Amino acid sequence: MTEEEQKVPEPTNKRRSAYTAWGLLIVVTIFVSIIFTGGIAYGVQNIVGGGEPVEGILVDGVKEFELSAEQWSYAPAILKVNPGDKIKFTVTSKDIMHGFSINELGINLALSPDVGVVYQAVIPQDMPPGTYTMYCSIFCGIGHPYMKGSILIGDPSFELGKFLPYIATTIMAGMFVGFIVIGRRKSK
Ligand code: CUA
Repeated sequence: MTEEEQKVPEPTNKRRSAYTAWGLLIVVTIFVSIIFTGGIAYGVQNIVGGGEPVEGILVDGVKEFELSAEQWSYAPAILKVNPGDKIKFTVTSKDIMHGFSINELGINLALSPDVGVVYQAVIPQDMPPGTYTMYCSIFCGIGHPYMKGSILIGDPSFELGKFLPYIATTIMAGMFVGFIVIGRRKSK
């Protein structure tokens, strides 16, 4: 019966290996959560308007931007300007009627299909640095509320908004692990 004796481990060893497995599960959970968070946050930022900001082409002291609009996005989705810049937007819808609005700059354009709408302005010198939203203001289907882009004005130093998806999921992962640990303790 030596074989069976070997199969029964020492109680202390059993406990220790249970703890090891437990620790491993928590580590794996955290690891998976971080990857998951990164993926979701990346996805969200892409929907909101990810990628690198486009700074436009300088022509005679005017920063020119060519934008296209279609169901349900703008391209480019992120623009970058500085306070005091002279800007010129040419926005063209590639499919149906869309809008192009930036509240803080007082822009609200109506875009008919395939017609380039030009808007010229000077970004106010006292415009606070930050990320402003450009959005579609004419109903264009189910994706209309999500038809958005961003315009960066100046150099916003730190933006909590960008990190919120990461922070939120990290907290969620922490809570999840916490629940497992508490549940585990109670079941003992
Ligand atoms: Cu495009 Cu609403």
